Amino acid sequence: MSTVKANPVTHHDDEVAPPEAWDAIAAGYDTFVAPGEAGFATEALRKAGLKAGERFLDVAAGPGGLSLPAARLGARVLATDWSAAMLERFDARVRQEGLADAESRVMDAHHLDLPDDRFDVTGSQFGVMLVPDQPQALREMVRVTKPGGRVVLIAYGSPDEIEFLHFFVAALQAVVPDFEGVPDDPPPLEFQVSDPEVLRRRLTDAGLRDVTVDTSLTEDLRFRTGQELWDWVLGSNPIATTLTADLTDEQKTTVREVLDGMIRERSTGSGPAVLTSPLNIGIGHK
Ligand SMILES: C[S@@+](CC[C@H](N)C(=O)[O-])C[C@H]1O[C@@H](n2cnc3c(N)ncnc32)[C@H](O)[C@@H]1O
Repeated sequence: MSTVKANPVTHHDDEVAPPEAWDAIAAGYDTFVAPGEAGFATEALRKAGLKAGERFLDVAAGPGGLSLPAARLGARVLATDWSAAMLERFDARVRQEGLADAESRVMDAHHLDLPDDRFDVTGSQFGVMLVPDQPQALREMVRVTKPGGRVVLIAYGSPDEIEFLHFFVAALQAVVPDFEGVPDDPPPLEFQVSDPEVLRRRLTDAGLRDVTVDTSLTEDLRFRTGQELWDWVLGSNPIATTLTADLTDEQKTTVREVLDGMIRERSTGSGPAVLTSPLNIGIGHK
């Protein structure tokens, strides 16, 4: 019987999903994940003081988690990502909404092909959060920001409090009982700044001053069925594709049925289940 890998190895080099893996989930990310991000992304941009007419750079932008709200606020936007398929989705939405002054360029977050001191605000949401050399990527974000400009980084808080993760792991364990879940020593790169104090230190070490980390916002995901939660998780990160790659179709169906039951139990009345995740929003000034 094929199974989920019971004990995933967590060496950071092996853990980094290549651009092709992100290309492969770009459609799912754009359809299922991105729409739910606009609220807290807009709020983070406001906290960073982004104004109409300012230049905004989005690093590891995906289909435009921060860039689309920034463009809607009237900023002049450049979205960068190493996945061309993600940026194609961004470009399509820019055309669809008729947003002015919003462009995209394929680029690795560790080596931005951009001049020094160029942007009023540089941001990354769930992007630089997960890169393997985060200090280097943060230094790059600071380098391309104008003196007096702001850098904003949005990352998940403690994995212990991320409810979609616990639902998904529990459903996998119901089908593959020896699946150990998310490793914690070391945890996946996704959680390298889940401690607000670590995020504050990294932003400061990258050369920013007056750094604050706001922990007041959560991501609130709404699901009515197990299939919706499955689609969201599979669209959100290539790790989910890897974790479920060896499941048979029958096992996948069972996982979705287990998720259905968990969602029914959580939801009240006829409304959807709301699963929350803590967010760390770090902001510093150059
Ligand atoms: C979880 S998604 C976040 C997308 C978007 N920022 C958002 O708010 O939804 C992570 C994104 O980081 C990109 N990414 C990962 N490593 C990267 C790197 N080294 N350079 C540039 N982009 C990278 C992926 O291609 C993907 O689009």
